[in-house]
Amino acid sequence: MKQIVIFALIIFVATGIYAENPGSFAMQNIYSRNTTSLNGSWQSIIDPTNNGEWRQVWKEPVIENNHQFFEYSFDGGPTLNVPGDFNSQLPELKFYESTIWYRRHFNLEPETGKRYFLHFGAVNYKAKVYLNEEEIGTHEGGFTPFQFEISNKVKPGQNTIVVWVNNRRSKDGVPAEGYDWLNYGGITRDVHLVTTNQTYIDDYFIQLKKGSKNEVDGWIKLNGQQKSQTIKISIPELNRELSVRTNPDGHAKVNFAADFDLWTPENPKLYEVIIEAESDKITDRIGFRSIEVDGTQVLLNGEAIFMKAINIHEENPFTEARAASVADNKILLDWAKELGCNMVRLSHYPHNEMMVRMAEEMGLMVWSEIPVYQHINFENPQTVELMNHMLREMIHRDKNRCAVVIWSVSNETYSSPARDKANIGMANICREMDPARLVSKAFSNQSYRNNTFDVWDTLTCHFDVLSINEYIGWYIPWQGEPSDIKWNFVCEKPLFISEFGGESHYGSNHGPKHMAAYWSDEYLENIYKNQVKMFDATPNLVGVCPWLLVDYRSTSRLHPVYQSGWNRKGLISDKGMKKKAWHIMHDYFMRK
Ligand code: GCU
Repeated sequence: MKQIVIFALIIFVATGIYAENPGSFAMQNIYSRNTTSLNGSWQSIIDPTNNGEWRQVWKEPVIENNHQFFEYSFDGGPTLNVPGDFNSQLPELKFYESTIWYRRHFNLEPETGKRYFLHFGAVNYKAKVYLNEEEIGTHEGGFTPFQFEISNKVKPGQNTIVVWVNNRRSKDGVPAEGYDWLNYGGITRDVHLVTTNQTYIDDYFIQLKKGSKNEVDGWIKLNGQQKSQTIKISIPELNRELSVRTNPDGHAKVNFAADFDLWTPENPKLYEVIIEAESDKITDRIGFRSIEVDGTQVLLNGEAIFMKAINIHEENPFTEARAASVADNKILLDWAKELGCNMVRLSHYPHNEMMVRMAEEMGLMVWSEIPVYQHINFENPQTVELMNHMLREMIHRDKNRCAVVIWSVSNETYSSPARDKANIGMANICREMDPARLVSKAFSNQSYRNNTFDVWDTLTCHFDVLSINEYIGWYIPWQGEPSDIKWNFVCEKPLFISEFGGESHYGSNHGPKHMAAYWSDEYLENIYKNQVKMFDATPNLVGVCPWLLVDYRSTSRLHPVYQSGWNRKGLISDKGMKKKAWHIMHDYFMRK
């Protein structure tokens, strides 16, 4: 027995998955739960050389004699707002990439028969959580929720949470060391104390069956001792109600038909869905639509659709911070609607859950992506295990969001057998977990010579939509008339141009009008004019997605006059001003 325990421990440690129980996922739909918000002002210790680990700062310093002292304290130190990145909260943390310790207390009178969980919307990048001086779990990955059950660890009265947060980049991380956005660290999303009954509704999947417009093919899963329960699912607006019985594993399939008003961007219809077990009740707002590929077309509810998309980073340019509130989300999604979009690519990582829910309410389809970005160490099995886990966490959280039409498993990774194997593996995970959605990834290794685009990467054949990032006119000059461009595809698929564009410094008049070297607005306007000419002559095109909505912060953009730490590819400047190119894109979307 002992050997088995040791073996299991080695496996757990070896996989490097930072979660209390590898494979355990945060409960579905946190917003419908019995929660106490733990948002607000947390105490903190800034610990750039990670001294706090050996000083054990999660332990309350207790002075027992007049010779004793402790070289740390939360009391008297800086406070940080949660949710929110720490980089934007203190000037000395602007580019900080190391350890911050967070602490807060909460009071509780635990009730018999109740269960208690700590639920984190996300912590970037690694987290280690302590409750009342005991480590309760760890998590790796900066953009997906996680939870720890604390039912046997909470005590009556004051309880204390300490969270070790570290946003240092790592060559084996996901993302790895090189990425073109600000590495906002911290407890960047909501934190909740969740109270449930002994058996609660842990997870559910209520979406249309692949290819159907009226049949739901889903399931419900209970967590707790009382696994066999009768569960009632109702949609009051449709006067639809059915009951199922969970099996001894707490699982029940859910199949029913209804005459749904299908979700579309023009009519983003959501229904109140009530799931009532004997010991728990959840309500959610769920939309029903079908998304599929037919030859080189994408069909929404059986009709060909053109995806008028825009790339968005999760950043409020005015506060220069990670978007962490409904108000932040609304700024970005309102801009997307104003541009004429029916879709957003939430680059390059899962955004906060309210962003996805708001997009759904506003009639914006969503491309949702994990940060398997460019230089990833696909040769490291732990890294591959981590990206698979992150993918499962993303799908787990948003699988009931009908607005999500594409799961993307990576962005611009470079050809290698290990890369292909990992990406094909992730595509398979998507299809196992969620057969009704499309799967893609953004490619960038196509070649452009003699005004011919050669999409040669055979990995494209493994995805439903062939998505490519191209920057003709910016990183590579045109080699002929945009409308004469020729395309070669290794696979006939719907083509989505998932990134294109260039930079400009809003209102730039530093040098000759049409010169890239001066970040000229007119130069960028010209790129967009030529790109639109190319789109009109491109076969199989099912959508375009400019890079990107608004200028955003990136530590890799070093020009002191035109960039000063900002990537200037926004159609809107960091001050909210529309660039000339914005109007070219708006006109194109209006006529599509
Ligand atoms: C790449 C990448 C983006 C990056 C962009 C750029 O395509 O996907 O994350 O910001 O190019 O060069 O600005």
